[in-house]
Amino acid sequence: MHWFGMRLQSTAGPGTGTKTGARTLPGVREKIQAVVRMRKRSIDDIDVSGKRVLVRTDYNVPQDEEGGIADDTKVRATLPTIQYLLGKDATIVLCSHLGRPGGKVVDRLRMAPVAERLSEMLGRPVAALRDSIGPEVERAVSGMQKGEIVLLENLRFHPEEKANEPAFAEALARLADVYVNDAFGTCHRAHASVAGVPRYLPAVAGLLLRRELETFGKILEDPERPFAAVIGGAKVSDKFSVLRSIVTRVDLLIVGGGMTATFIASLGYGAGASRIEAELLDAVGQLKAEAERTDAALLLPEDVLVADRLDEGAKIRVVPISGIPEGWLIADIGPKTAETFSRELSRCRTAVWNGPMGVFEIPDFSGGTRRIAEAIAGIEGITVIGGGSTIEAVAEFGFADQISHISTGGGAALAMLSGERLPGVEALEDAEG
Ligand code: 3PG
Repeated sequence: MHWFGMRLQSTAGPGTGTKTGARTLPGVREKIQAVVRMRKRSIDDIDVSGKRVLVRTDYNVPQDEEGGIADDTKVRATLPTIQYLLGKDATIVLCSHLGRPGGKVVDRLRMAPVAERLSEMLGRPVAALRDSIGPEVERAVSGMQKGEIVLLENLRFHPEEKANEPAFAEALARLADVYVNDAFGTCHRAHASVAGVPRYLPAVAGLLLRRELETFGKILEDPERPFAAVIGGAKVSDKFSVLRSIVTRVDLLIVGGGMTATFIASLGYGAGASRIEAELLDAVGQLKAEAERTDAALLLPEDVLVADRLDEGAKIRVVPISGIPEGWLIADIGPKTAETFSRELSRCRTAVWNGPMGVFEIPDFSGGTRRIAEAIAGIEGITVIGGGSTIEAVAEFGFADQISHISTGGGAALAMLSGERLPGVEALEDAEG
């Protein structure tokens, strides 16, 4: 086991962590203040009765090979806001992006399957419109009765959405009297439907967005300790800013997934055929120094499961990180590592997890991710999970209902944990309530 934070010994566990929460992650204080302000600008703080309400949701659901919905957690998460609005006899115009169509129509990324799934969940019709702005959409929306729901077509079929074009934001705003942002997962994007529309309408947070901000505010500002972060996934570059920030807040930082290849290389070992991000080797060294400075234990795998290819039926072996064979790929953490990570997590009172420990979609490579899901589910305290594939894993292994908060934000959750400000939240702060 590689312990980079020497004050925390494996026998004592993170219970000996000395952090008091007094250190301030850059931007955290401001964010927490923003959260407090947000409470005054939520959906239940303004009158939405009988109004036309444009709700920005994050229905960017994972898709299966046929283009169907592989996981509907993000859709289900918006039900409280929709039901609240239905209870107020509002007319509901939902909008979202799906995937990255690059500013043009891509049939596979149409919103219709999401409208269908939502309709099943609500037990009432949800019409999928064929565009998100324009005269036909305006006509359809102006003909809606109270209690009716439509879902606009994928916002990103228009390049103006991503470019945050004021005219596009204004065209969306014309569809409603009030704007509700319930798309926590998209709040880190300064796109027209997120950061632009609040300039033109009274704008408030939905119940999902409020819950997300409150939960992240609590764990960043005042976590019960010991506090662990488990960060996995394919690339260090995707997660480095969160690693660098969160290490200053936690007692225990666990790193797994494909990104460990770069950490393993930084220890001077070979990583087989796994991708090493050579440009980040120094940064990984700095992370180690930061962990020492802030009394965090940085845990890396001691063994890994390697495969000759990342496919079903591949040959597999369990090896120590010092013995990864040439040409083999890291597919999962090893059993000893899973055991140690689980044991250390069981001592924690708060945990946040983003990124699987391996290629969990393939049963032979799923053991490590399953074990971590189980360990986090067993923690008595606040447990927060974010990121599409992490959510999928937890749902697949049957632990979803034992997690205190399943965040609908992948990138947005990482941005919060990195101490960045979210343009979607800032736009609400600036908006007229
Ligand atoms: C997500 O799934 O993380 C959000 O929907 C944001 O999607 P994006 O990374 O394509 O902006």
